[in-house]
Amino acid sequence: MESLIIFSVLLLTITSSFVALSAASGRSPPPPPPPVASANHTCDKYPAICTGVGSVNPSCCKKTCVNLNTDNLNCGKCGKQCASGKQCCKGKCVNIQKNRSNCGACGYTCLNTDHCCSGTCVNLKTNILNCGVCGNKCGLNLNCCDGEIVDFLTNVKHCGWCQNKCKKGDPCSDGMCGGYA
Ligand SMILES: *[C@@H]1O[C@H](CO)[C@@H](O)[C@H](O)[C@H]1NC(C)=O
Ligand SMILES: *[C@@H]1O[C@H](CO)[C@@H](O)[C@H](O)[C@H]1NC(C)=O
Repeated sequence: MESLIIFSVLLLTITSSFVALSAASGRSPPPPPPPVASANHTCDKYPAICTGVGSVNPSCCKKTCVNLNTDNLNCGKCGKQCASGKQCCKGKCVNIQKNRSNCGACGYTCLNTDHCCSGTCVNLKTNILNCGVCGNKCGLNLNCCDGEIVDFLTNVKHCGWCQNKCKKGDPCSDGMCGGYA
């Protein structure tokens, strides 16, 4: 009998806490679901259509949700189109073939000494495909030293390798200073 009373009291306590809980949640109802786009329900009238949590296209241009950071047709602002060959990086139209801060892709930054040639970071001082300037290719058996195309076999300032400068008056033959001594 005693345990039945305890049980009833317990049940009553649980029930009343549920009622209290429901009442509490009744005071702050869940937020309404985000609006959904439709023919007459467009983002120019209802910006919230674009700005939902985690939205990748949070801005509204001409009734369409877009990302002004990355959209080539709306770069930085609605209707700002990037010219052909340019890409929208953080709201700016850039040439990712040449831009050191966006080389090959938005946000890909070249190292201090590197340049961006055809979307690739290169060291113009030593790169045999881009020697001195982008696109300046070294011919067969030629090399790039300090941005200059040289022939290791005969160049007295770069004899055999870039850093090998021959003594004054010495020729460079077959990549060796001094010739046929
Ligand atoms: C949109 O609005 C027009 C005119 O206000 C109305 O004729 C049409 O039925 C509406 N369409 C929808 C899908 O609500
Ligand atoms: C490279 O892109 C940045 C934007 O990330 C821009 O500010 C800068 O002017 C661009 N540089 C050139 C040379 O276009």
